[in-house]
Amino acid sequence: MSCVPVHIAFIMDGNGRWAQAHGLPRYEGHRKGASVLKKVLRIAEKNGIKYVTFFAFSSENFSRPKPEVDFLMNLFERFLKKYHKILCEKKIRFRAIGNLLQLPINLQFAIEELTQNTAHFDSFHITIALNYGARNEVIQAIGNLLEDKDIKVKKLTWEGFEQYLYTKDLPDPDLIIRTSGEQRLSNFLLLQSAYAELYFTKTYWPDFNEKELLSAIKDYGARERRMGKINDKTSN
Ligand code: IPE
Ligand code: IPE
Ligand code: MG
Repeated sequence: MSCVPVHIAFIMDGNGRWAQAHGLPRYEGHRKGASVLKKVLRIAEKNGIKYVTFFAFSSENFSRPKPEVDFLMNLFERFLKKYHKILCEKKIRFRAIGNLLQLPINLQFAIEELTQNTAHFDSFHITIALNYGARNEVIQAIGNLLEDKDIKVKKLTWEGFEQYLYTKDLPDPDLIIRTSGEQRLSNFLLLQSAYAELYFTKTYWPDFNEKELLSAIKDYGARERRMGKINDKTSN
């Protein structure tokens, strides 16, 4: 493949509509969505992607009915526990980004354990965004920055500021894929996506598959990322 993205971030959307289309309760869509995440992880690794990030729960998703929120929190905890061994065996580094302190304590423990036990791996990285919101991330970053006595605010650079973001040790996403037909970012990685390529597919997340991912990667490979510069061929 010509040019493969280093970091792909997924906005896994459409679980509820997928369930509705199949005459099932919404939670069945979330359950199926979790199994698709696992498959996508494997396919991404196989295709030479080094970083994958999955938007699993936004800060705004806490406004959903409590039974759905509780189901999702349980699902995340079970998922992390179930794949703990496999991630360690396959030497996959795990991270979670978001306001983790507002998550149920058992989920926080599962995140902490997996983060610590995989912290020394470097070949493939999975990040899950949980209770993530880019606006909260920025506010939290500014709060921490102002508490930092050594920082000279007037001399601050982007490289300096990004050290305060949840994503401080992750490269920016090259490609953001959103499923379900919605064409928006929904408060996801707003600063980190400044130069990301965006790819939208109508497929609901539970139906997302290898063919779709390879199409997105191919589409990305055909794009020209200028980052504000001009194309050499047009410069005379
Ligand atoms: C994405 O699917 C999963 C979460 C946001 C937790 P949705 O639950 O948003 O599914 P739709 O958009 O209602 O179909
Ligand atoms: C975005 O999906 C969040 C996740 C995929 C976790 P939403 O379903 O919450 O987004 P909106 O409400 O359609 O923008
Ligand atoms: Mg949705």
